Amino acid sequence: MSNNWIQNSTEIFAQGPVVPVLVIEKLEDALPIASALMEGGINVLEVTLRTDAAIKIIETIAKEIPEAYIGAGTVTNRAELEDVTSAGAKFAISPGLTADLLSAGQEGTIPLIPGISNISDLMRAKDAGYDHLKFFPAEAAGGVKALKSIGGPFPNISFCPTGGISPTNYKDYLALKNVKCVGGSWLAPTEVIENKQWSIITEVAKEAITI
Ligand code: 3PG
Repeated sequence: MSNNWIQNSTEIFAQGPVVPVLVIEKLEDALPIASALMEGGINVLEVTLRTDAAIKIIETIAKEIPEAYIGAGTVTNRAELEDVTSAGAKFAISPGLTADLLSAGQEGTIPLIPGISNISDLMRAKDAGYDHLKFFPAEAAGGVKALKSIGGPFPNISFCPTGGISPTNYKDYLALKNVKCVGGSWLAPTEVIENKQWSIITEVAKEAITI
């Protein structure tokens, strides 16, 4: 069985300490947001499938900013994984997992990062060959303490926690051995996007990667 998706996941987790979780409503905002983040030193972006424009946004960023590591978030099933792959996403992240999604990830051409919030799901993902996982919703599911405990029996599983991560707690997560990066919407908040304050996004990104 090919383990290529695992190697690729390693590469994604190694891109930088923070992954912006992006909810973008308007296509016209996609390139300014991506450029603002890149200018701030972040080149891995997660565009969530939570808006009607998401697929078109992934397509646009993939085409116009090829140096960006553009990924798709909130990918919850095989069809969505196929759609984001066709749109040019370089990786996909899911808040959870299903048996079919895990299979689709193995059969697909881009790395899939499944999400877990309990040990049984972790074991399902591990059995399917995944060792890079999202931990979601991080703060609500036990946060730093939970991840630290999970590192005991499962030292070889790497995490990107998201959900409730903020400027005040992200460094605590990054201090853990099994956390390679953290994700969060704080890097591009809705209000800042609505007001098209692109320079704020750059400043927040610069600050976030200074750890
Ligand atoms: C996600 O999809 O990873 C989360 O919705 C991001 O959570 P946050 O908005 O609390 O950062």
